[in-house]
Amino acid sequence: MRTPMIAGNWKLHKTVSEAVQLVNGLMPAVKDTQNVDIVVAPVYTALGKVAEAISGSNIKLAAQNCYSEPQGAFTGEVSPPLLKDVGCQYVIIGHSERRQIFGEADELINRKAHALAETGLGIILCIGETLEERESDQMFDVLRRQVRFGLKNLTTEQMKDVVIAYEPVWAIGTGVTASDEQAQEAHAFVRALVGELYDEATAAATRILYGGSVKPGNVDGLMSQPDVDGALVGGASLQADDFARIVNFQPVG
Ligand code: PGA
Repeated sequence: MRTPMIAGNWKLHKTVSEAVQLVNGLMPAVKDTQNVDIVVAPVYTALGKVAEAISGSNIKLAAQNCYSEPQGAFTGEVSPPLLKDVGCQYVIIGHSERRQIFGEADELINRKAHALAETGLGIILCIGETLEERESDQMFDVLRRQVRFGLKNLTTEQMKDVVIAYEPVWAIGTGVTASDEQAQEAHAFVRALVGELYDEATAAATRILYGGSVKPGNVDGLMSQPDVDGALVGGASLQADDFARIVNFQPVG
């Protein structure tokens, strides 16, 4: 059984006090939620205070990015051991904004994945096609490349700490969500690919999240799909009540 994961990617939002206020609002609303991994990913500067605020609760901490080296002359970067030190359990890598705005390629993302695995941190690897790629029938090639190269040389054992987030770029921050069927189609493809690259047991155990305009109004349908194991939520994770409703999704059918 795959434990669902609902993760909030706060992106570049919230001061330290606003971030603490957000988790203080969220904690009572999700305190009775069981069997869901609830994760928040604040900006780096808020990680320490949010870690203190959620200590002892059922909310876990993630960072939105990291560098691939543990330490050294890398001005401006933050490493996996430092993120672990501040209380993170997961790190998001390969988000489409990192790929598009900051030019991150699969090779760098793969090095980050190895650095995280070596540090013992969970990996949330984001993948997803652009609208242009979807419309020109390249979607499956893009997903295959991002999964193959993003996870290259990770062992079956290390795959236990990998979560994949399928986030079609055209659905991120646009209000346009993939339909339940579109999400299921991509997730089933990614799961089969993990099976090809590893084995059936690894494919069956790997959580695949959907991301892209997930809201209280569409989470239930998405979470009812057999291969959708959770959500990576941007905009709607910035409001405690909306995010709590997403965490407390109600599968239909
Ligand atoms: P969104 O962002 O929910 O605002 O579309 C999702 C993401 O980028 O992870």
